[in-house]
Amino acid sequence: MRLNRKNELDPNNIPEHIAIIMDGNGRWAQKRGLSRSMGHREGSKTLRKIVEACYKLGVKYLTVYAFSTENWSRPKEEVDELMKLLLEYLRNAEKELKGKNIRIKVIGEKKRLPEEILKEIDRVQKNTEHISGLDFIIALNYGGRQEIVDAVSRVVNDVKSGKITEINEEAISERLYTSGIPDPDLLIRTSGEMRISNFLIWQLSYTEFYFCDVLWPDFTEKHLKEAIICYQGRQRRFGGVKC
Ligand code: FPP
Repeated sequence: MRLNRKNELDPNNIPEHIAIIMDGNGRWAQKRGLSRSMGHREGSKTLRKIVEACYKLGVKYLTVYAFSTENWSRPKEEVDELMKLLLEYLRNAEKELKGKNIRIKVIGEKKRLPEEILKEIDRVQKNTEHISGLDFIIALNYGGRQEIVDAVSRVVNDVKSGKITEINEEAISERLYTSGIPDPDLLIRTSGEMRISNFLIWQLSYTEFYFCDVLWPDFTEKHLKEAIICYQGRQRRFGGVKC
């Protein structure tokens, strides 16, 4: 693995936007003879610590993959537990984040989500919308392909109605759930899997990828810093050449 020159974190080169695929909750639980739901519960504790760590490091945007459009196919008990954890998190968000400048945004499809979760999303987004510091973005019932399909159909409608005349990258970006949010600089996926699983597929075009073997519940601030140090050692060329 190539780290940055000094192999220590450069506080002046923190990625503005980190995206995380929090993978490995199920395996973490199975290794301990626990139910998969216990793995998710432990994973949500890790998430709280990592939100805090990103905030302290000065990350501006953190996007996490909490529930994909494909996750509905998991056993009902597991889906119910994930919804319960999300509901608990959203209900207590302001109390937990008190004193920290963290704004919460939820991206993904609203349909299929339980009414009580939708209510909490509305409430917490409204209550934190004035905050600037860290934008904590939760991808919930999220699918990257569907996001693009939705954006393209909005483009088509806006062309038909004469609102726009040109179809370009900007026209699509502006109609994604992440409109106004810069693309991730760094994607972290835990648990040793090396794929993006329909996560932010448009937005990750020039993102640096970091895969590590640690299962999400075991992921700590130390691992986050290792990922950032590795990112700091990369040369980002965005398709150009290095001068
Ligand atoms: C992937 O691990 C993880 C998920 C599908 C859910 C992630 C959710 C959380 C960490 C907690 C809830 C989030 C909030 C915002 C409170 P996996 O189950 O696929 O693990 P496996 O590959 O080992 O089976």
